[in-house]
Amino acid sequence: MQRTSLLVALVCPALCALTACDNRFSITEQQALDQLGTQPPDTGPAAVSDAVGLGRLLFWDPILSGDRDVACATCHHPTFAYGDGVARSHGHGGAGLGPARAGGAVVDRNAPTVLNTRFAGFTANLGGEPPETAPLFWDARADGLEEQALGPLTTATEMRGDIPEADVASTLEARLAAIPAYRALFAAAFGDDAISLDRVVSAIADFERTLTALDSPFDRFVAGDQQALSDAARRGMRRFVEVGCARCHSGPVFSDFRTHGIGVVSRRADGTLDDGAGNGAFRTPPLRNVALTAPYMHDGSLATLRDVLQHYQQISGRGGNNGGGAGNGPFPIAQEARQLRLGRGDLDDIEAFLRALSSPGFDARIPSDVPSGLPPGGDIGGGGGGGVAQ
Ligand code: HEC
Ligand code: HEC
Repeated sequence: MQRTSLLVALVCPALCALTACDNRFSITEQQALDQLGTQPPDTGPAAVSDAVGLGRLLFWDPILSGDRDVACATCHHPTFAYGDGVARSHGHGGAGLGPARAGGAVVDRNAPTVLNTRFAGFTANLGGEPPETAPLFWDARADGLEEQALGPLTTATEMRGDIPEADVASTLEARLAAIPAYRALFAAAFGDDAISLDRVVSAIADFERTLTALDSPFDRFVAGDQQALSDAARRGMRRFVEVGCARCHSGPVFSDFRTHGIGVVSRRADGTLDDGAGNGAFRTPPLRNVALTAPYMHDGSLATLRDVLQHYQQISGRGGNNGGGAGNGPFPIAQEARQLRLGRGDLDDIEAFLRALSSPGFDARIPSDVPSGLPPGGDIGGGGGGGVAQ
């Protein structure tokens, strides 16, 4: 490189970073949007059916847990945007809601939101996998929402408690069959009143598919409302693509639904290293509503979005593995993460963009009662733990 052009190459970006001049960008806003490829699939309005109504009650009913004290909603509560607002969930035997929850068995990972899981599997510009087989969980080990729902029901620390694993289906089926209201609800949803674990997870998944949230400032901007995004969020959107975040976080819910190592190292309750899907790789988390679902990462170890961005700043440029600053952690870091180049000003702008992905107008209704007569949401404190009861 010529000396002058080298000088220009060095000085211009620095000046631009200071003055926020437009030369800072190498792509246009439209190119950024094209690369993000975020249009949601045209799935039509979420179906309202008897199965959805049944699934909603099952989602809230602690009858599905060993000690009748934990429901799906215990850890996926509308007050916390259908996560639980803590680093690691307290399941079987715990009491309270969100950060106030204590005691009982502690789960190894952070509870992701179930909002927009209907769109799991869809990648940029609607490539990817059909939602029926979409990889779910931090390590992508479940295929689709029905299979996923079997996970907590059969895991001792989450809901199973002391029911022997081989007896989960027969125990839960017998419990539900003993409640006439459930027999009637299963008959309405499925045509006859046979109660099976397959039908339970099918109804729960149908309910989850109604939990969408697609009206963020970002969506309104994409739909043509130029005022919907602040200047910082607009700059952040372009920088998000330019610095390389969108190499993994793109598509309708900002995930490629693949697993990568980005240097977040944690231990399970039993002391072993959590190697995720292998070699410390975890599934790229969707980013819709991310500002509402702190703390972050598979172990909830990063408290704020700023902490996440600083983590990326630290790992970028690292030659190989991570690890407490020494660059020699136990697992490799994906090249796409090491190549991120976050400059001055990017942190504020990208954070503003991430905050513009929030769509808080989701369905936050809490059933006032569930057919078992147990408290909706389980042992989380009175009245379903706040929110809109109906
Ligand atoms: C004790 C807390 C707890 C309970 C109860 C619980 N979950 Fe979860 N949920 C979690 C945690 C933690 C994860 C992440 C686990 C992992 O990835 O290994 C998770 C993951 C999920 C996911 C995957 C989301 C994604 O993007 O991959 C869905 C969907 C989900 N849960 C739905 C449910 C349903 C349905 C129920 C009830 C049948 C339920 N959960 C009960 C804590 C809980
Ligand atoms: C190599 C693919 C890759 C790249 C590039 C990447 N991410 Fe991630 N991102 C991930 C993975 C994988 C995780 C989860 C890691 C874990 O939990 O161990 C994650 C986690 C996150 C989270 C936490 C979400 C949550 O719910 O916990 C945020 C926010 C985030 N990334 C934003 C960004 C931003 C901003 C950039 C660009 C500066 C970026 N990512 C670049 C793959 C990537």
